[in-house]
Amino acid sequence: MEIWNRRSFLRAAGVVSAGTLMPGIPLLAAEQEPEKPVAANDHIQIALIGAGGQGQGDTKTAIQVPGVKLVAVADCYDGRLAHSKELWGDDIQTTRDYNEILSRKDVDAVIIGTPDHWHKQASVDAMKAGKDVYCEKPMIHLYSDGPEMIETARATGRMLQIGSQRVSSIIYAKAKELLASGAIGKLNMVTAYWDRNSAIGAWDYTVPPDASPETCDWPRFLGTAPKIPFNAEQFFQWRKWKAYGSGVAGDLFVHLFSGTHFITGAHGPTRAMATGAIRYWKDGRNVPDVMLGIFDYPEEFNLSLRVNFVDGGQESESLVFTGSEGTIEIGWTGVTLTRVPRETAPGYTVETFPEAMQKEFIADYEKKYPRHAGREEMAGSEKFTAPKGYSDSYDHFRNFFASVRTRKEPVEDAVFGYRAAGAALLSNLSNERGQVVRWDPEKMKLV
Ligand SMILES: NC(=O)c1ccc[n+]([C@@H]2O[C@H](COP(=O)([O-])OP(=O)(O)OC[C@H]3O[C@@H](n4cnc5c(N)ncnc54)[C@H](O)[C@@H]3O)[C@@H](O)[C@H]2O)c1
Repeated sequence: MEIWNRRSFLRAAGVVSAGTLMPGIPLLAAEQEPEKPVAANDHIQIALIGAGGQGQGDTKTAIQVPGVKLVAVADCYDGRLAHSKELWGDDIQTTRDYNEILSRKDVDAVIIGTPDHWHKQASVDAMKAGKDVYCEKPMIHLYSDGPEMIETARATGRMLQIGSQRVSSIIYAKAKELLASGAIGKLNMVTAYWDRNSAIGAWDYTVPPDASPETCDWPRFLGTAPKIPFNAEQFFQWRKWKAYGSGVAGDLFVHLFSGTHFITGAHGPTRAMATGAIRYWKDGRNVPDVMLGIFDYPEEFNLSLRVNFVDGGQESESLVFTGSEGTIEIGWTGVTLTRVPRETAPGYTVETFPEAMQKEFIADYEKKYPRHAGREEMAGSEKFTAPKGYSDSYDHFRNFFASVRTRKEPVEDAVFGYRAAGAALLSNLSNERGQVVRWDPEKMKLV
């Protein structure tokens, strides 16, 4: 896989930017330090806890960062331990019990790719065992997880980075720079949606044919979740049940919160309203497949989010920042700035007045507002495109391992992670209570 770093993006972005160049738009951001070679004694040994879809993907990316080696994998399904050896060789240790990995002195850091209900405990156990932690989003499953994770990171001096890779994305960095430069005037609204229309999109992941209490460590998977008999669907499609997952809010809204907080610098909403229900996927799940959320930010903008897993139209996603003078739209491959500045002349609506009055008014108006540019003349659009193959996950891991080496706070620390996940989970609370809910983003507490 081709790896693109920030330096190559910025160089390429300068070349591929297309559209009308507009005055006042800043040049591309300063270039990042090029990668330094890693000394032999500066290698980082990692282990993976939770080797499902994301854990395996994360690990493939992490070991491409120079000086990073995988030595062990823990998972509750034997098939994923077997596949880990196929991917990374017979030399890696595999186990159902992550404590066996945490007791190893030669493991510096762990990636946690378990379902949400294990994030807190696995992170806390790892930090207490002296390991730095890259924990997947959403950081929390319950509100009480947040303070405990933040405090453990502080008390142990371990690096805890949360896995919302967009926080390290050059596309998001460009959007942040454009917003800060005033390219769209004053921000008043952020609108995002994530619409799908497939069984897999609605989390019906394949249950392996050999799934059984023998191949799956069901009691360990359950952890603190209510004890029920082995259920292969709940094991492999855990997102559909709130005992393990956090609904569309924790799975998808959280990405939109981390992106919004990173780009705007905001810490979170103060008020949230959400509504949702199971509209189509009535397969025993207990979390909505359609959800809408609306949030008030103290920085004087509103955020509106939507997830629809039953979108009979086109499957699509969008994240748009709207300001008084334009919009910034973020896509998978780049960011588009569109500016349609407001006309300086107020315009007139005189056609219902007597004709003589109309004539007099228009003559005065044209003296007062001599020829000015129309909206179309002032409008323009510019797209910044990331180079083909750009991976924000790679940059997020590169940033994590830089923190592990330098002991400087990670790019997405536990406070950032809690603010994003805490805000996202307000949606579930509001929907369940049928009420507006309030949050103090500074103190990170429900009000
Ligand atoms: N950053 C992203 O874009 C992104 C994308 C997908 C998923 N995720 C996150 O990654 C996490 C995992 O999602 P997934 O789709 O890979 O799920 P998955 O079901 O494919 O994998 C989870 C794995 O964790 C294992 N597991 C459960 N409890 C464990 C324990 N106590 N010890 C060790 N292993 C345990 C399970 O056996 C399973 O193999 C979720 O929190 C999800 O939100 C993030």
